Amino acid sequence: MNSVLEGLSYNVQTFGCQMNKHDSERISGLLRSKGAVEVDSIEDADVVVFMTCCVRESAETRLLGHVNSIKNMPPKGSSRVGRRIVAIGGCMGQNYGEGLLERAPGIDVVFGTHNISELPKLVEASIASEGFEHHTLLQADDFPTDLPTKRESPWSAWLPITIGCDNYCTYCIVPYVRGREKSRPMDDIVSEAASYVADGVKEITLLGQNVNSYGRDLYGSPAFAKVLEGVCGTGIERVRFATSHPKDLSDEVISLFGSLPALMPALHLPVQSGSNRVLERMNRRYTREHYLELVAKMREACPDVALSTDVIVGFPGETDADFEDTLALVDEVGYNQVFTFIYSPRTGTPAASYPDAVPRPVAQRRFDALFGVVEKRAFEANQDDLGKVVPVLVEGASKGDGSRLSGRSPRNQNVHAPIPEGVAASDLAGRIVEVKVNEAKTWYLAGEVV
Ligand code: SAH
Ligand code: SF4
Ligand code: F3S
Repeated sequence: MNSVLEGLSYNVQTFGCQMNKHDSERISGLLRSKGAVEVDSIEDADVVVFMTCCVRESAETRLLGHVNSIKNMPPKGSSRVGRRIVAIGGCMGQNYGEGLLERAPGIDVVFGTHNISELPKLVEASIASEGFEHHTLLQADDFPTDLPTKRESPWSAWLPITIGCDNYCTYCIVPYVRGREKSRPMDDIVSEAASYVADGVKEITLLGQNVNSYGRDLYGSPAFAKVLEGVCGTGIERVRFATSHPKDLSDEVISLFGSLPALMPALHLPVQSGSNRVLERMNRRYTREHYLELVAKMREACPDVALSTDVIVGFPGETDADFEDTLALVDEVGYNQVFTFIYSPRTGTPAASYPDAVPRPVAQRRFDALFGVVEKRAFEANQDDLGKVVPVLVEGASKGDGSRLSGRSPRNQNVHAPIPEGVAASDLAGRIVEVKVNEAKTWYLAGEVV
């Protein structure tokens, strides 16, 4: 029997991390397999799916505003369903379940992170009953690998190697909404990577909340280095990964940065704080000294590595002196990019009940001070590339200026250049072109195709 989804239009809106982006590709693949057709805008969609993030309160508030505003939009005129179906999935779906109805009245479906494959069924049931459908599993049994996927980009692919997280940093909701850490068998990973290469994919990003502990559950000890070797061995041109927990970053993995040419010289290594006292209260299980040692080893193995990090300011009990330690660390490392966050209490996490909250204006002041150092050091770090010729994986025409191309350098910098005459941006997309850098700004490089 045909699905009622046959011929309906859908649009997926994605928030949060790459895990959600990858899950959205699977949602899209599933809906297509039922005959639904993807459209670019919410206005044109019969079915709108929100893949949500609950890591910080600000992300939730924005999302709910968005959902409520589309519920007020008239449904698509031509629809045979007569209403626009709105489904909420991802981490807020998992965390709040049916409770989301109170905050976003009128939504039709809520589903969780462990039951993506049920979305078509839930939407079908909602259409049939004209009512609300909801299902969130507490924990998935297996690593979900066999769902159809519609990749966002033909030349780059996300490849999850672990799901879930066992680290329980005291501020973080992720272990509660993504479940226990589970690794995917090595052979599956390598054969998926090989199939991407055969498809013309140029870049693979390996995904996990802590890729460094890959394999502990399956093989008894971490085996991330083996995954990197296996994936690079498929002949793929570029390999990246996210995210890497400093407590588990091994010397073996560090040394691969010097020996596997496909492994791109960019490492995201979230530090969260430069104060040992705060790190301990965050349950991060490394010290500032250990972290700086990792940075030194990385730079020895791969001198041009671009480092990026995440920092939380205003964690409960953070003093001015703790914050100064963070500032000094960020200044010392000289990151290419730092993602800075003001601490946001998440119900159910240990830190949410710590009594010594930092007043918002103090946290904001620290955030602003940190940002000043981040910008200065990012600008300096990009100057290394001035005058160099860098291979750029082209993403397409630049969003702001159609006459320029935009893409990524090996160090994961954004690079712009005028599109050479007689060439269409669409022909360059997915290709690697050489760009001579003649301008190095804080957040991008610019140059000429050579
Ligand atoms: N697994 C990754 C991070 C996932 S969450 C890792 O361990 O690095 C992404 C980032 O959000 C975190 O690195 C942290 O900096 C930030 N974050 C997580 N929980 C937060 C909270 N409660 N308040 C503010 N920032 C938070
Ligand atoms: Fe959250 Fe920590 Fe796990 Fe990262 S490692 S997802 S910050 S609990
Ligand atoms: Fe957010 Fe869920 Fe990722 S909470 S950061 S979308 S795992």
